[in-house]
Amino acid sequence: MKTLRDYNFENKKVLVRCDFNVPLSETGEILDDFRIREALPTIKYLIENNAKVILMSHLGDPDGKVVDILKLDNVAKKLSELLNLPVQKVDDCIGHEVEKQIESLKSGEVILLENLRFYKEETHSTGSGQANLDFARDLSLLCDIYVNEAFSVCHRAHASVVGITEFLPSCAGFLLEKEIINLNKVLENPERPMTVIVGGKKIETKSKFINKISEIADFVLIGDLIKKEIIDKSIQLERPEKIFSATEHLEDLAIEEETIKMFKDKILQSKTVVWNGPLSYTEDARYAQGTLEIAKAIVESKAFSVIGGGETVEFIKSQGMMNQFSHVSTGGGAMIAYLSGEKLPGIEALEGQK
Ligand code: 3PG
Repeated sequence: MKTLRDYNFENKKVLVRCDFNVPLSETGEILDDFRIREALPTIKYLIENNAKVILMSHLGDPDGKVVDILKLDNVAKKLSELLNLPVQKVDDCIGHEVEKQIESLKSGEVILLENLRFYKEETHSTGSGQANLDFARDLSLLCDIYVNEAFSVCHRAHASVVGITEFLPSCAGFLLEKEIINLNKVLENPERPMTVIVGGKKIETKSKFINKISEIADFVLIGDLIKKEIIDKSIQLERPEKIFSATEHLEDLAIEEETIKMFKDKILQSKTVVWNGPLSYTEDARYAQGTLEIAKAIVESKAFSVIGGGETVEFIKSQGMMNQFSHVSTGGGAMIAYLSGEKLPGIEALEGQK
């Protein structure tokens, strides 16, 4: 896969697919800028290398309609604050008006396009499941080189993630590279014992992950809500001897002392730990304690640790623990898909580049 180091960006128009899909308040204020901050090294590198930097992203799921609260103006403001330079914002993401504004962009300047998902063509694939190539071509007309910096959307075969690579020299940004390197450390020859903690809910999306990762992991620890779903839906997981969960008193909000103790015992002997999904209802301080104890045990274990998933990262951030793990992934669904051994279309598209 090509990376930023493979191109000369001098005076080139470089279109960077970021994932600025950040949590918003009801009035559209950005509640957490983690994903924006994680894209900064690539943006700064392009500025320093005299590129004309064009950023694009989706936000929420407007499904082809313009939704005011999902416009990217607040993201542009936040970027401007973090980069300490003006970030222009355009009101569309394709078309003559956008092309005109980009033409006046000077090297080292940054512009942000409007929410890609205001066009249904961004997400709607053609009958064969392929990205919409007409929309991808329209995006490609804006630039000379394409950079994928959006690991967390790489599991989607969308126009700005996959289709666009058919029209432009393309490469991975630093964040995408970092995600792949760290997740590969888990998949390829991890230090043992290796423990994987699966919390949250939605067994439908997680059972494939649990089955796949239990091939590699020594212990898979499962939260109460997932365990309940497994029982209710009579799901048979593979390699049950590696799966650990509460045996009685499954709880909706908290996690029992005994289960915490058993989980901590496994975590503290581990040299690799992966964690996705809270183990208790972390939005309420009364129930957050159990999940906090697990988080602290991961840190105490000094294992190579990878955590991911929106709620997990939000919780870790609220506890001021963001810097205490080896890798905090920007991906939720994408991280699960990658660790389930799936080929992510966004990554495959870059690998196919000559
Ligand atoms: C995410 O939040 O996981 C990514 O931005 C992907 O969003 P999506 O699930 O709406 O495609």
